Amino acid sequence: MDYCKQLITNDLADKVLEYKELDSTMLELERLRQLTGSESRLLVVTKTQIAGIGRGENKWYSPAGGLWFSYLLPLPELYPSLTLYLGSVIHRVLSELFPQLIPDLKIKWTNDIYFGNRKLCGILVRRNESSYQIGIGINTNPIVDNALETLCAISLQEILGFEVDHGYLLYKIIKAINTNLHELESQSNFISYCNAHLYGVACEVEVNLDTKILRGKLSDIDSDGSLRIETGNNTREKAYFASLNVLFT
Ligand code: BTN
Repeated sequence: MDYCKQLITNDLADKVLEYKELDSTMLELERLRQLTGSESRLLVVTKTQIAGIGRGENKWYSPAGGLWFSYLLPLPELYPSLTLYLGSVIHRVLSELFPQLIPDLKIKWTNDIYFGNRKLCGILVRRNESSYQIGIGINTNPIVDNALETLCAISLQEILGFEVDHGYLLYKIIKAINTNLHELESQSNFISYCNAHLYGVACEVEVNLDTKILRGKLSDIDSDGSLRIETGNNTREKAYFASLNVLFT
């Protein structure tokens, strides 16, 4: 059975739409949501994006061979640490499917998965009235050209030496997002998981808080999802919404 049917049969998605090319799966998901007025679990997958969206003002380079998708998850309550939850889910799925990744597979606060010092996956979360729009980009099998190298990206195929099955990986991720949702009620489980696999611990980092730039040593993720930085003289400061730059690993 193909993965679209399996997602629907197993009640993990209400509709799966596959495209060859889109501007962005985030934009298409929002268009469909507005058009249908529906808050059902839509899944939009595309082979390439010509205007992929990253965090903040960033663009997301989305060549053929990568896994680019957005998923509408109806959740009336607000979960400020949803991105960390998703990071822990993706890390767990990749570790289960490809145990050889485990020693170097890390979660970069708040929204990336790294392999060594290179980016493997990015996560974007947006909120509507009663649902979340989740965007996930994984460098599964794209050719790592100059553009990806400049972005310090790495692909699963480059690491593993074989092509990854998109359908199966996508199925496993959507299933894991849904079956572990109860963890959102008490964040401690997935936050301790993120801490156990956190990228850049004890490294010199810079965190851009808009009002100021924090510089110090990365400590850990606090129970509320914020990042703790040791800024000297036994002082630890917290960052909630910020971009993290790991200076020296
Ligand atoms: C980041 O900046 O790290 C988040 C990147 C999220 C990229 C994914 S790819 C699928 C979905 N569609 C988009 O346009 N962006 C997200």
